[in-house]
Amino acid sequence: MKASSFIYFAGYGIRTILFGKREPVLGTVIVTDKCNLKCRHCSVNNITAVVHPYLQIRNEMRQLYDMGVRILFFCGGETFLWRDGTRTLRDLVVEAKKIGFLIVNVVTNGTFPIDLPEADLILLSLDGDRDCHNAIRGDTYDTIMENIKNATADNICLYMAINRINKDAVQDVCIAARDTKNIRAVSFNFHTPYPDTKDLALSKEEKANCCEAIKKMMKAGAPVFNLQSAFPYLINNSFPTPCHQCVVIENGKVSTCGRCIDVPGLCSKCGYFFVAEYTLLFRGNPKIIIEMLKTYLKYI
Ligand SMILES: C[S@@+](CC[C@H](N)C(=O)[O-])C[C@H]1O[C@@H](n2cnc3c(N)ncnc32)[C@H](O)[C@@H]1O
Ligand code: SF4
Ligand code: SF4
Repeated sequence: MKASSFIYFAGYGIRTILFGKREPVLGTVIVTDKCNLKCRHCSVNNITAVVHPYLQIRNEMRQLYDMGVRILFFCGGETFLWRDGTRTLRDLVVEAKKIGFLIVNVVTNGTFPIDLPEADLILLSLDGDRDCHNAIRGDTYDTIMENIKNATADNICLYMAINRINKDAVQDVCIAARDTKNIRAVSFNFHTPYPDTKDLALSKEEKANCCEAIKKMMKAGAPVFNLQSAFPYLINNSFPTPCHQCVVIENGKVSTCGRCIDVPGLCSKCGYFFVAEYTLLFRGNPKIIIEMLKTYLKYI
């Protein structure tokens, strides 16, 4: 991270913690909900299958920037399906940097060739070893690993959503993150049980076991882009929700925290690690502040 960005985020963090401010700093633009996969745990693909036009997305980026957002994510659907004429996802990333976002990340299922060196991080979903991943995401594991190998930069961070199918494969993903070329780290979430995927939710005990496995792998040198100090809160779902410093925009609609804010009762079962990490940070939790500083400076 550039020194100027670090100073900006430190100032924002201090103001937010001291004065309880709610201005957002992290924003996500949904570029399309169209997807080439239909993963077992996912409730947000192909609802409209509309690919939003470039000018609309540029305006949404500017809107988020004007609201104070400086960490931008592009998400979907599948982001690498995004096109407008000759423009591709790469043009969106380049435009975001031009607008002034300090960190620009992309979330992808990794099934398309990866040539996006301009992104700070490419969060690439890998949901276990070959068997578990393919049970959730169809027969895609080998294609994804090949795309990682051939990627044009080392800015990939694996992204695993842990659920009942893949809860025993945390270690495999940690090892892949540690030992595979072009992968910088791995970041985890627990399954957030939307009404149609309730059966995949983890129990408290299962979440605790996963956190133990992650800790063990961190000790064994796995590069984990999460905060251990947030684990107890994630296991017990005792972190504050929603995250007021996070916003999502999809087809002009701005939501606080996530698109899922409209699903009744879901926030109390939220599995997204970023929500626990950011809400605890902005409540001034000292352990989280120190670990966040160390972790962000290491991986971004
Ligand atoms: C919705 S996908 C969009 C980007 C891209 N298609 C992908 O799969 O990475 C973003 C991330 O959300 C995760 N995800 C989807 N449904 C989830 C749920 N109910 N709980 C937790 N994570 C979920 C996916 O596994 C993926 O890592
Ligand atoms: S690839 Fe991503 S958007 Fe598509 S179905 Fe899977 S999790 Fe959902
Ligand atoms: S806290 Fe609520 S809105 Fe935020 S990600 Fe979790 S479920 Fe979605």
